[in-house]
Amino acid sequence: MTTTATTTTAQAGGQRSTPLLEVDGLTVRYETLRGDVRAIEDVSFAVGDGESLGLVGESGCGKSSVALSLLGLLPKNARVDAGEIRLQGQDLLRLPESQMRKHRWNDIAMVFQGAMNAWNPVYTIFTQIEEALTIHQRGSMTRSEARRRVGDLFELVGLDAQMMDRYPHELSGGMRQRAVIAMALSCDPKVIIADEPTTALDVIVQDRILRQLKRIQSELGMSIIYISHDIAVIAEVADRLAVMYAGGIAEIGASHTVFGHPRHPYSWSLLTSTPSIKGPLRTLSPLAGEPPDLHDPPAGCPFHPRCPMATDRCAAEKPPLELLSSAQASACWYADQVPDPREQEVLR
Ligand SMILES: Nc1ncnc2c1ncn2[C@@H]1O[C@H](COP(=O)(O)OP(=O)(O)OP(=O)(O)O)[C@@H](O)[C@H]1O
Ligand SMILES: [Mg+2]
Repeated sequence: MTTTATTTTAQAGGQRSTPLLEVDGLTVRYETLRGDVRAIEDVSFAVGDGESLGLVGESGCGKSSVALSLLGLLPKNARVDAGEIRLQGQDLLRLPESQMRKHRWNDIAMVFQGAMNAWNPVYTIFTQIEEALTIHQRGSMTRSEARRRVGDLFELVGLDAQMMDRYPHELSGGMRQRAVIAMALSCDPKVIIADEPTTALDVIVQDRILRQLKRIQSELGMSIIYISHDIAVIAEVADRLAVMYAGGIAEIGASHTVFGHPRHPYSWSLLTSTPSIKGPLRTLSPLAGEPPDLHDPPAGCPFHPRCPMATDRCAAEKPPLELLSSAQASACWYADQVPDPREQEVLR
């Protein structure tokens, strides 16, 4: 990891105090019949107290794998080859499952990708949240305390308390997702990971839920890791952005810096290929090609086969993630030549 006197690439655009959560050199493989999938490639980032980080990238770039690593919930065929995940200095990857269970939900909670469709249809929402509360708070809550707690959480996420006694099919998609967020908040976690929390919802509901999450975050003073493929949506709510490509971090920094002027051609492409109802009006340029097969990613920079700026050097040598300023780090040999997105003719 590149360091200066005060900032590491993992901290680019963030706080300089000791971070709450540090991911350092995380490298994860999935063992399959076709060989290893290189799902996470030397990923490092830090999240400060009360800070929000957005993990952004195309489908299959490794976002959920990072999230599952943080919770110690990687599937059985996953192998952690290197790295540390430190929560307040303690390496979670080295903890036995019995210890990890104490941190899961109580310190780090997650809104799973697609969770709003994973409610059990035969139980009410309250029964399901109560079960989670009983398991993770070790049965220390009475029924009436649990009802009060769920009522408070529902109010926090903008749901009428009466909704807790409904069955999942009686709630709209937006309500079910709010209830999922309430469940993730139920044990008062220090960090919450929201994996594609609004992808299946219409833009108006999406916007409302994200704003609410942001408000809750500042009210409760927790940290959030937002995961999304939509850079414009995430730049709105996250203090910092980490752009992932082929399992690695292509660029990381303060949201307004990365969104305003990305210094990696991949972030640039994401920005100029995504339609957005937010931000300045711009002509869309679709990103050509497909993400690489992570069984056998390309040599050099993994983005080079799709990169309009690529040279022979990019095909041969992998660029390290390097700080450009305390607010931004990029893994591109030509970071200083990436144009302003408003001048996109320069690249296409
Ligand atoms: N259990 C598994 N076994 C083998 N390969 C896996 C497994 N889980 C994920 N992968 C592969 O690992 C890579 C990263 O997957 P991951 O789900 O982390 O991506 P993602 O960025 O969350 O994608 P999406 O945006 O579609 O949710 C992909 O190539 C995926 O196919
Ligand atoms: Mg995912």
